[in-house]
Amino acid sequence: ERFGDRALRWKAEALSLIVPWLVDERGRPSVKIELPADETTVVEALLTIGMQQSARIRQMLDHDGKRVDWLSFHYLNKAWLQALGDPFAIDIPRTGIGQPRPVPPKATLDGDPPKNAVLVGKRVYLRPQEPEDFQIVASLARRETETFFDIGRYLPSSMAFTSRLDNQQKPTWPAVVWFAVCLRETDEILGVVGLLNIDYQHRFAETGSFFHRPEFRGDGYGSEAKHLLLEWTFEVLGLHMVQSWVSFSNTRSAAALRKQGYSEAGRMVWAYSHNGTLDSFVLFDLLATEWRAMPREEWSASAMT
Ligand SMILES: CC(C)(COP(=O)(O)OP(=O)(O)OC[C@H]1O[C@@H](n2cnc3c(N)ncnc32)[C@H](O)[C@@H]1OP(=O)(O)O)[C@@H](O)C(=O)NCCC(=O)NCCS
Repeated sequence: ERFGDRALRWKAEALSLIVPWLVDERGRPSVKIELPADETTVVEALLTIGMQQSARIRQMLDHDGKRVDWLSFHYLNKAWLQALGDPFAIDIPRTGIGQPRPVPPKATLDGDPPKNAVLVGKRVYLRPQEPEDFQIVASLARRETETFFDIGRYLPSSMAFTSRLDNQQKPTWPAVVWFAVCLRETDEILGVVGLLNIDYQHRFAETGSFFHRPEFRGDGYGSEAKHLLLEWTFEVLGLHMVQSWVSFSNTRSAAALRKQGYSEAGRMVWAYSHNGTLDSFVLFDLLATEWRAMPREEWSASAMT
C-alpha cells in the first residue's frame, strides 16, 4: 500500500525474472502464481512471459469493501509437457446430471432435536465431532472399498484425529470447522462436512465432505448434509462465498457440487503426483447470494439420487 503502483511494477518485474528461471533453467515441472484480479499490472506481466490463467474464484477477496476475484496462473515446463501432455487440453471427466437441484427446505421437528444437533435435515443432522467418532472413522477407513476419489486409502489413527480436535474446537476463531453428519433414524455417524482455511477478514472458506460409509454415497445424503453446512456458513457464520477443490478422478464429488449449485472456476494443474504422472484438481465456487437465490423445494426420490 505504501508504495502504490510502484510496488505492483516491482512485483511484476520480479516474477517475470523468477518464474522462467525456476522452470526453464532449474527444470521445475511448473510454477503457480495466485493473485487478486485487481493487480492488473502483474497480470499483464504474467501473460507477457507466457503464463496461462488456470482459475478464477469469484469475489473471494475483500478490498476495502469491494469484492475482488482471485486468479491463478500456471507456467509449465516444455520438457514435462512433452512427457505428460498438456493438462489444459484434457476434458474434465464428468458424471451425473450436471444441473443444480433445489435446496431442501428446513425440516420441522416433531419433538426435541437430536442430542447436540446444530442443524437438522430430513434424514441427517450435523453435530460437533466427539472423540468417540474417531474409533469408528479409523476403523471404517481401513475397510474402504473405493479408491478413485483419492490416492489410495487414507489410514488415520483415532489418536491422531482426537489430538487435532482440541486445536480445532478450542480457538475463538477456528481455521477449520468439521461437523459429524449423523443419521436421524439411528444417530450413527455417516461422515463429516466442514469448512477449511476459514478467512474471517475476506469471509471465504473451502468446503469439504467425506462420507465414511460407502453405502451412504451416491444417494443424496452428502448433498443434504452440504446444504445444512451451507446454511450455517452463510446464515450463521456470515461468509460471502465458498470454494471447493476436487481431483479430476473424483467425478462423483464434482457432480455433487454441481447438483448443490456450485460453478466450475477452473483447474489447478499438475497439483500432485500419482501413479507415474501429475494429476489435477477442478475448482468450484459458490456465492452466498447464489445459494440464497436457489429455489427451496422438497426433493423427490429421483432428485436424491
Ligand atoms: C463426495 C460425497 C460427499 C458426495 O455426497 P453424495 O451423497 O455421494 O452425493 P449425491 O448423491 O448428492 O450426488 C452424487 C452425484 O454423483 C453421481 N454419482 C453417484 N455415484 C457415482 C459414482 N460411483 N461415480 C461417479 N458419479 C457418481 C450421481 O449421479 C450424483 O449426480 P447427479 O445427481 O447430478 O446425477 C460422497 O460421495 C463421499 O463422501 N465420497 C467419498 C469422499 C469424497 O470424495 N470426498 C470429497 C473429496 S473432494
